[in-house]
Order: sequence, then structure tokens, then C-alpha cells
Amino acid sequence: MEMRDIILDKRYGKRLSEEQIQFFVRGVTDKSIPDYQISALLMAIVLNGMDSSEMTDLTLMMARSGQTLDLSALSQRIVDKHSTGGVGDKCTPIVLPLVASFGIPVVKLSGRGLGFTGGTIDKLESIEGFRTEIPFSRFSEYVARCGAVLSAQTPELAPADKELYSLRDVTGTVESIPLIASSIMSKKIAGGADAIVLDVTCGDGAFMRDIDRARELSQAMIDIGRIAGKPVTCVITSMRQPLGHCVGNILEMHEVEEFFLGKAAEDLNTVCLTLAASMIRMSDILTTEDLSEIIDQIQRKIDSGEARKAFVSFIHSQGGQTSIDGSLIFKDKPMVRFEINAERDGYIREVLASDIGKASVLLGAGRKVKSDIIDPGAGLILRKKIGDYVRTGDCLCSLYTGEHADPGSASLNEAVGLAQKAYVIGSDEQAHPDEVIDILY
Ligand code: URA
Repeated sequence: MEMRDIILDKRYGKRLSEEQIQFFVRGVTDKSIPDYQISALLMAIVLNGMDSSEMTDLTLMMARSGQTLDLSALSQRIVDKHSTGGVGDKCTPIVLPLVASFGIPVVKLSGRGLGFTGGTIDKLESIEGFRTEIPFSRFSEYVARCGAVLSAQTPELAPADKELYSLRDVTGTVESIPLIASSIMSKKIAGGADAIVLDVTCGDGAFMRDIDRARELSQAMIDIGRIAGKPVTCVITSMRQPLGHCVGNILEMHEVEEFFLGKAAEDLNTVCLTLAASMIRMSDILTTEDLSEIIDQIQRKIDSGEARKAFVSFIHSQGGQTSIDGSLIFKDKPMVRFEINAERDGYIREVLASDIGKASVLLGAGRKVKSDIIDPGAGLILRKKIGDYVRTGDCLCSLYTGEHADPGSASLNEAVGLAQKAYVIGSDEQAHPDEVIDILY
């Protein structure tokens, strides 16, 4: 078999056979296919697409390109969750303890942030002592202790996806439904999930800019799950503006703490409860099929403080430090460096998630390149969101860096410019956007 023929077949819009996809994934993993040929095929896939059986073959072969986790020792159905990425997305450290508090084991592998959507691992590492490198062999021990374990994705898991993703990143081939769907599903399958809940973000700060593309991506992942015997639920959520009020590692973890004290922003609350309820509905400790009834059950656990206990016990289980009252101890202190004020009266029409995300990276909350060092105290607090009424001079958002960062750096000015551009104020009343747009299975 020749790689050149595989590229030509896809270039002319043909369906790739299982053998061709296997040849390709093997060659990516053992590095026998040069980057230029891999990139050429990736571009042909972007342009001519793949059908569901090609996508499933690609997914399963990438999942088997390295180590796969066997979680059968936990003797319960493992339901995993994943987000296609968003600004201010701190759902994982909220949803995990919520689901674990129902006696449902949760095993989650998460990534570090690259680009303007932050990574869960970076957020949790802003807590003093929190360990994110947990060996697979100890997962059961952690789950027995607090019901959940979260670890950094290792290079041994779906290594073909890792190779492909780094090439996609530099060849303009990230935004492709078959490539995103197979990338996400291969990691979930290799991670041992029996069923999967996917938060498919949609809007300015997401890969899928409009609802039709978000539905198409969801359907592709549901189809792959069906063929692979792993049921998938997709919750399509809005990323027109950042989720919640905080963007940045310590700031977001502080917002997570507030959630468990019953003080969450409404959009964050709705998204987290819907994701957690969808996971519970797919587990084998099903209480009811009715999502709103499960949401009520979760709300009762938040109100009674049981959910907060589960959260603190998850933090302690992985070495994270808290003070006696259970509040998190962080590695740094966020300091306000600039406040952006409204220049006119009116209603907030947009808080563009991509600009806020880019501003957070400039402040030091994320990485432009893999080797960048994160400032855990950096980020933004959004004081106003879409639909809010403001008067001239009201604070729209505050920009933070860590205590020891240089507040006079040029990046601060650039971040201020982006945050100013993110806020659009209009005269007409503006509805608060729906945060959960659709749920597909
Ligand atoms: N997240 C992934 O894991 N892969 C993609 O291709 C896009 C988002």
C-alpha cells in the first residue's frame, strides 16, 4: 500500500477502506509516514470529509494506537465527560464530585490548556499540593477513597491523536468534523469509558461557531459511539460569551468553590447540572430517566452541603490543601491590574468569548506555545454579561495578574484592548442567551 494513493483517493472524494485507515494510523504512530504526507491527507479529509464508518475506523485505530485503560475492576459502568473547549469552562472540577456524590465512580483524564481555552489540569494545579499525575495502577485506590480520580492525559494514551493534533495545529486542519470527532472519541475510548457525555460548545469562543455545525459534530460523535458500542449524549452549550464570571486558573477555581456554596452564576449552574444529570442518567445507578428530576436531586445535595463535602474530599484525595473551613489554598494571589468601565449607558449585547480568552492568555493565564509558563493568578472577572443594563462608568470587567507578575508589561495593554473590544453595548434590551441549546443522543 502507498500513502500517495491514499491521499489521492481522499483528494478525489473516495471512501477510505479499513485497511487504508489502519495503514495511515500505524504509519503516524511509528513515524514511518513523513509529516508532509500526513498533512496532505489531513487537508484532503478537511475538504472532502469522511462518512461515519470511516470516522469510526479512524477513531478505533487511534484509540488502539497506544495503551488502553481497563476499568472493569471498578465493576460499574464508567461514564466519562469531555468538552470541545470553551472560555471560562470550569465544569469538570464541579461535575466530577457531583456525580461521585451519587456513588457513581468517575475516572477522568484531562489536558493542559493550549490556545485560548484553559485546561482543567492547569486550573487544579493552581491549588497548593494538588497532584495531577496519578498512575493508572492507582486509579481504583483513589476511586475507593472519594469516588473520583482525575489525572493528566499521558502520551501513552492514543499517541496517534497526539501526533495528528500537533500537525493539525500548524497546518490549518483543526476545524474539521471527522478529525475533531475521531480525536475526542479515540481518547475517551482509550480511557476506558463505557458511556460518554460530551459538552459540545457553540459560538464565538468555540470550534463550532454555529448551531448547525455543533449539531453535525454531535451527530458524528453519537454515530461513532453507536458503532463502537459506547453510548454518547451531547449537550450543546453556548460559548457566545464565557461561562460564569471568571476566566483564569485561580479565579476559576475560586468560582468552583462558590458553586458548592450555592453562589454560582446562573449559566454555570445550568450547564454543570445538565452535564452531571446526563452522566447520572447514563450510569447504572439510575434513579430516574427524567433529567429535571435528577437535576432536582443534585440541587438538594448542593443545598444540604453534601456536594461540597464530596468536592473537598476529592481535593484532599489528590493532595490539594485547604484551610480548616474547607476553602482552597492557592499557589498565588490574583491582583487587580486594570478595570474596564462602560463608556455609555445601555444593554450588554456581546461579551466575545474569543477576545476574552485571548486577553486571558496575554495576561498569563494560558499558553501561546507549549513551553509557556502559566501565571496561576492571571485572568479576568466579568462583572457584566449579555443582557445586563449598565450606566456610563460602571465596571464591565477586571483584569488580574498574579502577585509577582510585572503589572507594567506591554501584554497588559494588549489584553486591555482585547477586553474593551469584547464588550459591545447597545441601546436595545437584550435577552440573556440560553446556555443549554440542545441535548442529543
Ligand atoms: N478537542 C480534542 O481533543 N480534539 C480536537 O480535535 C478538538 C478538540
